[in-house]
Amino acid sequence: MTTPSLTSEYASLDPLRTRIRTHRLYSETDDDVNTSVIDVLRLAGSEQLIDIGCGTSEFLALLAERGHAGQLCGLDASHSAAAARLSGAVGIRATAQQIPARDGTWDCLTARHMLYHLDDPLGALREFRRVVRCGGTVCVVVNHARACARTRDLVAAVSARYGFREPPGMLNHDVDSDTVPAMMRDVFGNAEVRSFDNALVIPQPEPAIRFAESLFAFCGVTPGATGYSEVRAEVEAELRRWFATNPGQPWRDPKGYRVITAIRAQALLPRWRRPLCRSGALPYLRHGDPAVGGPEQPVEPRSPAHVTATQRGLCCRGLRFGADQTAQVTNDHPSVSRPPTWTVWP
Ligand SMILES: C[S@@+](CC[C@H](N)C(=O)[O-])C[C@H]1O[C@@H](n2cnc3c(N)ncnc32)[C@H](O)[C@@H]1O
Repeated sequence: MTTPSLTSEYASLDPLRTRIRTHRLYSETDDDVNTSVIDVLRLAGSEQLIDIGCGTSEFLALLAERGHAGQLCGLDASHSAAAARLSGAVGIRATAQQIPARDGTWDCLTARHMLYHLDDPLGALREFRRVVRCGGTVCVVVNHARACARTRDLVAAVSARYGFREPPGMLNHDVDSDTVPAMMRDVFGNAEVRSFDNALVIPQPEPAIRFAESLFAFCGVTPGATGYSEVRAEVEAELRRWFATNPGQPWRDPKGYRVITAIRAQALLPRWRRPLCRSGALPYLRHGDPAVGGPEQPVEPRSPAHVTATQRGLCCRGLRFGADQTAQVTNDHPSVSRPPTWTVWP
């Protein structure tokens, strides 16, 4: 029996395209995840943007179509990912865990519907933070835990009857729209969350069958495996039976996702350099309002001894901490021309 893996699942992008097409054609509320992300990001159009796990690259294609002038790059572990074929974009075959880019390269990083494929999502988020510049944005999209559970449960139940199970390493069930906001806050010290609730509403059996079939690999069922045809036939029979016994009714399957954005703080101090925070939570520095446009260089105290000094409300090079843990950038750092206001977060 051939056991599917992430590599085999995305060796062809056809099942992914079927899922995307189903969501586009049969969503109860008119909603397109690409547009949601663009709306949330409020891009100026000049940003250097990398899309991690870009898949079909339709997000990058949409940005290019809308006249995005900044560099666009698609990164994916699958050699089938389409970014390289997109005019004006760069395609990289690499993994989210090891992005081949220097620190602070990108203005904006998106990772849509891919974090739940990773064993160590926090490690990947730290890697995202590394390659985004100070003040840049990381935007992650993750589904609700029970998104499309009705169809997934049906496929899983039929597959299990034929001895198929979800292959290890396909999905990380700890990663969903409930858990990722906290992960983002842990890594970035901030996170903004927008939820999009919806449902698939499929009026005929054929598209419901095609959608169910596009989920087979996640239940360990792959074309060519012994039992594949039986699972396929039984899933089809069950769906047709449901439509026959519920005439005029669509196959409704609730779903939804969250778009979570975080700003890479202008200065995230290494643990030993972080000042004490009243709440006991990790203190991060972030640009106060008006945001963005401050110094390009992170401002750091020079030594552990100096941190002690900052905790007492004294100055360090380029950064002054008040007794209330408010920090201000001073203009005695070479990279600071105009001192903006900074605050310790949270
Ligand atoms: C569900 S698809 C999402 C594709 C695209 N972002 C979208 O929303 O249509 C997941 C994508 O993540 C890619 N992927 C999975 N694990 C990866 C990893 N460790 N590093 C980079 N890409 C990965 C897969 O090859 C696939 O293209």
